[in-house]
Amino acid sequence: MYSEHSSIVIHEISKLQSPEQLWSPYDWYHDMIVNNPIYYDEKQNVWNVFRYDDVNRVLSDFKLFSSIRKRSVSPIPPVITRVDINSTDPPIQRDIRKLVSSAFTPRSLKEWEPRIRGIAKELIDNMKQMNKPDMISDLAVPFPVTVISDLLGTPRQDLHYIKNWSDILFFPNSEVDVTDQAKRKYRAMSEFNEYLLPIVKEKRQNPEQDIISDLTLAAYEGTQLTDEEVVTFSLGLLAAGNETTTNLLGNMFYTFAYEQKGIYQEILSNRSLISNAIEETLRYRFPITLDRVLTMDSDVLGVPMKKGDVIVIWLGAANNDAEQFPEPNKFDIHRENSNKHLSFGKGPHFCLGAPLARLEAQIALECFIEAFADIVPTETFNPALHLHKGTQNLLTLPVELKIVDKSII
Ligand code: HEM
Repeated sequence: MYSEHSSIVIHEISKLQSPEQLWSPYDWYHDMIVNNPIYYDEKQNVWNVFRYDDVNRVLSDFKLFSSIRKRSVSPIPPVITRVDINSTDPPIQRDIRKLVSSAFTPRSLKEWEPRIRGIAKELIDNMKQMNKPDMISDLAVPFPVTVISDLLGTPRQDLHYIKNWSDILFFPNSEVDVTDQAKRKYRAMSEFNEYLLPIVKEKRQNPEQDIISDLTLAAYEGTQLTDEEVVTFSLGLLAAGNETTTNLLGNMFYTFAYEQKGIYQEILSNRSLISNAIEETLRYRFPITLDRVLTMDSDVLGVPMKKGDVIVIWLGAANNDAEQFPEPNKFDIHRENSNKHLSFGKGPHFCLGAPLARLEAQIALECFIEAFADIVPTETFNPALHLHKGTQNLLTLPVELKIVDKSII
């Protein structure tokens, strides 16, 4: 049963309380990596792993560390159809994934590229007219939700509903209002389902060139997906890539404007650095925790663990493990192994949308570079004071933008 008892409150584990600590959890990560790499938290009744190699191991070994679990750091209400990709293991998870994996390969995405570029260009062109542009509300939020809803085929005028439901569903538990949050998530899930059902029915009658239409034609275990199953799957896809891609874009532009001022100019003069800047952002500042459950007693991580024990996996810490990434606190777009970060996970559940997220970030930055010669900080902005409650995610990012002067090109 989904209830507050199924929740794991990660801030109760980390004890990161102040906004400054949440924004900069690196000292705590390093302390845990060195002094407490496999840590049992009694109150939350979970193990925690921090080191790169341990995180890699847990995510890769689905036979020992299963996704079939009742407790989670960010529980969404349980999926009651056959197509629950998140809480299953291979081979079932692999078969479910196959239903849409072809839509997210870099090759398929090539076909969508002009449309994705068009969306980015329109948002960025609008920013040229603005006195006080905000990288979060003017680009990092609307861009991914517009792209994914276009890919799925939901109407443009409904983006704000989709964004709102996605945020509620994926919001991590906070220590204060777990019960309220569970209710909010249930409500969002049911509204999102009700919203999608007529769209799915309509597309089954009149298929178009989009992923929902493709799903209505797809077969699973020898039968066609039902409308409810197409809804489940579509909802997961619409919700999964919003907040994460928003954070990727927000964190990247924050670093350019406020932390490492020379980097934007360096990328302007050498655009081949764009993809490494994206990978390094995913490594350097990306707050994700996942969870798994042990399928049998084991001491593979060096301590005795019991069947049924829950493990919280700190991807942000693993990405800052000095054993894997020397000088981890340095944002370095010349780092050779930035793309070894684990922000997209690892193993069978490796992010299905990773090629899309990477393409979106690449296109956003390319279009941004075409439009703006510089991105500079506003005087008084303190990121720690503008975080989504209890998270490391920016709610706002005001900047000043210098428009490219085409007359001197
Ligand atoms: C920067 C952006 C993104 C990040 C950091 C990210 C991160 C992740 C991570 C860590 C997982 C693994 C979950 C686990 O192992 O339990 C995952 C899975 C997934 N992601 Fe993403 N994601 C991003 C963007 C997207 C986008 C744009 C989509 C759009 C379709 C998407 C769809 C999915 C799906 C469907 C899964 C489940 C895959 C499976 O269980 O087989 N993600 N993502």
